[in-house]
Amino acid sequence: MSSLTLKQKLDETADAIRKRTTAKPAVGVVLGSGLGAFGDSLGGVTKIPYGELPHMSASAVVGHAGNFCIGDMRGVSTICMQGRVHLYEGHAVEAVVQGVRVMARMGVKAVLLTNAAGGLNPGWLPGDLMIVRDQLNLTGKSPLIGPNDDSLGPRFPDMSAAYDADLIACVRAVALKEKIALREGVYAGLLGPTYETPAEVRMLRSFGADAVGMSTVLEVIALRHMGVRVGALSCVTNLASGISKHKLTHEEVEATAASRRGEMLAILGGWVERAGAI
Ligand code: HPA
Repeated sequence: MSSLTLKQKLDETADAIRKRTTAKPAVGVVLGSGLGAFGDSLGGVTKIPYGELPHMSASAVVGHAGNFCIGDMRGVSTICMQGRVHLYEGHAVEAVVQGVRVMARMGVKAVLLTNAAGGLNPGWLPGDLMIVRDQLNLTGKSPLIGPNDDSLGPRFPDMSAAYDADLIACVRAVALKEKIALREGVYAGLLGPTYETPAEVRMLRSFGADAVGMSTVLEVIALRHMGVRVGALSCVTNLASGISKHKLTHEEVEATAASRRGEMLAILGGWVERAGAI
């Protein structure tokens, strides 16, 4: 057991990054399945494998590299997480949010999270892109359990506008300019790693969820705790079970995510440019 406080751990990770780059990122992006190319496209990029940093865990999931990429996107200093770790891999909730907390500690004012999700909304199709308007944390976990460090954030953070209206507007504006259609809705975050049963899907729909996935919600809680503005974009890679007529596979999720990579990358670039200016 490490006896370091959360803040000490965050600062050790952030200091190790600062030894490798003098950049002071203004915005952060968490790159979900298949979007790693965005990190490599940053100008003057410094790429740091999580394994070379204290207190960072790497993901073992196919399609999830594990690097911080720090560099310039359209004049905005940007830090990306190329890959994230998930609860279902057996990581503690602290490990799941360590990366985004480090970005917060490095001073980013806004973070855009991306993910792959199953579509719950009838009428939606695989390949649809969704701005997350709100979330249901159904993981049964919170990164804020335990003593609170008031210097990082409040004991009882407000979640009434967890997804930032201005950042949502940035995503909408970019999509309009790029002529990319967007859905908007509620993301339900579950533990996984099973895809849902049809009964669970009916429950989630009755709860008001439009999409379901296995990431994002805990990162949003940790970021809001630390006062960072948050946006999220889901690629609806499949129809959730019971809605879809066939069995779900990770291969299908990856293939659909890959087919919308171009649109997702275009939105990310435009979003960073706009978010850097708000
Ligand atoms: N359920 C949960 N997570 C997912 C799904 C799904 O259908 N698709 C992509 N991630």
